[in-house]
Amino acid sequence: MHPVENAPANLSRVLSPIAIGPIHIPNRVVRTGHGTGIGKGTMNPALIAYHVERARGGVGLTIIEALAVGTSAYPFLVSGAPGLVEGYRDLVALCAPYGMKIFQQIGHLGNEIPELDGSPPWSSSDSVGAMVGIPSQAMSLAQMDFLVECYVRAARDCADGGLDGVELHMAHGYLLQQFLSPLYNRRKDAYGGSFENRMRLPVRLLEAVRAAIPETMALGVRLSSEPFEGGLSPEDIKCIADHFADRGLIDFLNLSSGTDYNPHKIIGAMHEPAGYELEGDRPAAHASKVPVIVTGRFRTLEEAEQVIREGDGDLVGMTRAHIADPAIVRKTIEGRTDDVRPCIGCNHGCIGGLLTGGQIGCTVNVAVGLEATLSEDLIGPSENPRRVLVVGGGPSGLEAARVAAMRGHTVVLAEASPHLGGAVNIAALAPRRAGIADIVHWLEREVRRCGVDIRLSTYVDAEDIADYAPDAVIVATGSLPRLDGAQHRSPGLLARGMDHASVVSSHEVLTEGSNRNWGSRAVVFDDTGHYEAVAAAEYLVARGLAVTFVTPHKSFAPGLEPALSDEAALERLAADGNLRLITYGELLSVGDGGVEVRHRFGGGAFHVDADTVVFVSHNAPNRDLIDGLADAPFPVIAVGDVRSPRYLQTAIREGHMAARSL
Ligand SMILES: Cc1cc2nc3c(=O)[nH]c(=O)nc-3n(C[C@H](O)[C@H](O)[C@H](O)COP(=O)(O)O)c2cc1C
Ligand code: SF4
Repeated sequence: MHPVENAPANLSRVLSPIAIGPIHIPNRVVRTGHGTGIGKGTMNPALIAYHVERARGGVGLTIIEALAVGTSAYPFLVSGAPGLVEGYRDLVALCAPYGMKIFQQIGHLGNEIPELDGSPPWSSSDSVGAMVGIPSQAMSLAQMDFLVECYVRAARDCADGGLDGVELHMAHGYLLQQFLSPLYNRRKDAYGGSFENRMRLPVRLLEAVRAAIPETMALGVRLSSEPFEGGLSPEDIKCIADHFADRGLIDFLNLSSGTDYNPHKIIGAMHEPAGYELEGDRPAAHASKVPVIVTGRFRTLEEAEQVIREGDGDLVGMTRAHIADPAIVRKTIEGRTDDVRPCIGCNHGCIGGLLTGGQIGCTVNVAVGLEATLSEDLIGPSENPRRVLVVGGGPSGLEAARVAAMRGHTVVLAEASPHLGGAVNIAALAPRRAGIADIVHWLEREVRRCGVDIRLSTYVDAEDIADYAPDAVIVATGSLPRLDGAQHRSPGLLARGMDHASVVSSHEVLTEGSNRNWGSRAVVFDDTGHYEAVAAAEYLVARGLAVTFVTPHKSFAPGLEPALSDEAALERLAADGNLRLITYGELLSVGDGGVEVRHRFGGGAFHVDADTVVFVSHNAPNRDLIDGLADAPFPVIAVGDVRSPRYLQTAIREGHMAARSL
């Protein structure tokens, strides 16, 4: 049955079809372009499976990640790559039964990346891109002609592959925005200066692509404003969109925010609310002469419905939401909104995975990029149903229990505390981090729905387990903060005075909260470079303390950089002038009135006043149970932090894979 035939009445707008130029889109839910790295440059079977899984989930329109044209060393899909057009054809054929329409984004990074042969990046003028920091060369007229040919070739490939449309990437500070924006474009010829001149190359490209694709395909652009002095304002974006629409060059307008100078606005993390981009979109969106796509942390069809009802957009991007759960539309139509696995906005698995490992994953969805083997739909009953005991009700144990129960095992989940969720419950107490708990709430609902026998406030040791005699045990007992003064960048150094009353863990800061007097000055020592120390600092700054953040790393919270969360956190922390940052720092000792610190590469020790000293280092695994089960006569699998304290993504993945292995 076609999804919209079942549309719940309160979702009548978002589930209604819409025409984008000649293309009929079955509903208003869009996956906007997102680099995955799955295809390794082309539309390979894994990338096809990734998209087909989401077509099956009911999304109306997918815009495929940017296709690199010309000689730009763009990392995602590459125009002319072997197998690209054949891959498009397979993708189109496999998605056709589900009604999802497919556009291809085409782009060039301009000054953000050198050319493939190592020569300087291209741009409108000589500017320096935020990512590579290499001065670009101003494009010659011959290079512009070449670029037009490249776009035309790429668009023809899309047509040959049977795609439904093309989007030219003019957002995020990349090449075409570098022509549109006076921030970069300082040319004195016909391609710079006045508004018309800055529009000239983008207009040429749109005209050329329009002429190259059949009338049965749609054409549009993605635009974003620049919150910098002299950059493109939201009103400028409206003028640009009008200019294109008035000339009949676009069938749709896709609005985004941010550039590579403020990438945390392109892919806003957990601290941003749903719809955080809308304010900047409104001038263009409200006046648009063509259908508008808006985006920004939308996760439910109810939110999308509201956007359309308020007139803020005609279609709504739900990109990360679909990375986390491919079947949002289908589940919602079936009345199973509670079953939708929530994107928590952590940015670690998706953009973090792309920037560190060259391919996206997802913290909450293990199957991303591996749909052919790990799709949730492929979890079938075990041939050998067993009695499985899972010890530990944090995210790793919950995921293990969920998947084991889905496989038909009889599952008991024992948790020593009165609550499920483990360390995530503490992380969620930090300012702007409540959303991280969404995943454990979802997991808890799922394990209950799957019939897992949950035993709270139940501490089990090796003897209890021997009495229960399970067929297999999954140990997910997690880890605990370590306050021993050891610092991983300074082997052999143990800070003295760690038993001083002022020394606390980040867990204590967040759990004791306003029940304790933290004084007026704090030192937060961050050995991990991840979120724990940032969370404690943010909590204390919010309570009015002056915080000195000491880290042995070369920058603030480097573990958050790939998740585009370090600068956003620093911006918040520094806003009131109550933050002092010491990088390359070593903590020498804690005593009455504060700490002694020194720089790792020289200089003498110096004193920092503090009433509270938060020490954050790598946790210690909680191994008591796993060590006690060394000689157990049944399989024992350790998952998550008890193996080695790491991240939420690893915890969930290991729990998942352990349950699949039984
Ligand atoms: C891993 C990842 C890669 C992205 N790559 C692109 C891209 O190639 N082109 C683009 O226009 N936007 C890209 N984006 C931005 C998304 O299209 C979207 O604007 C952003 O994720 C916010 O929408 P959401 O909150 O619905 O996820 C990317 C986002 C993610 C998470
Ligand atoms: S990694 Fe985090 S932000 Fe990215 S899709 Fe998954 S849950 Fe959402």
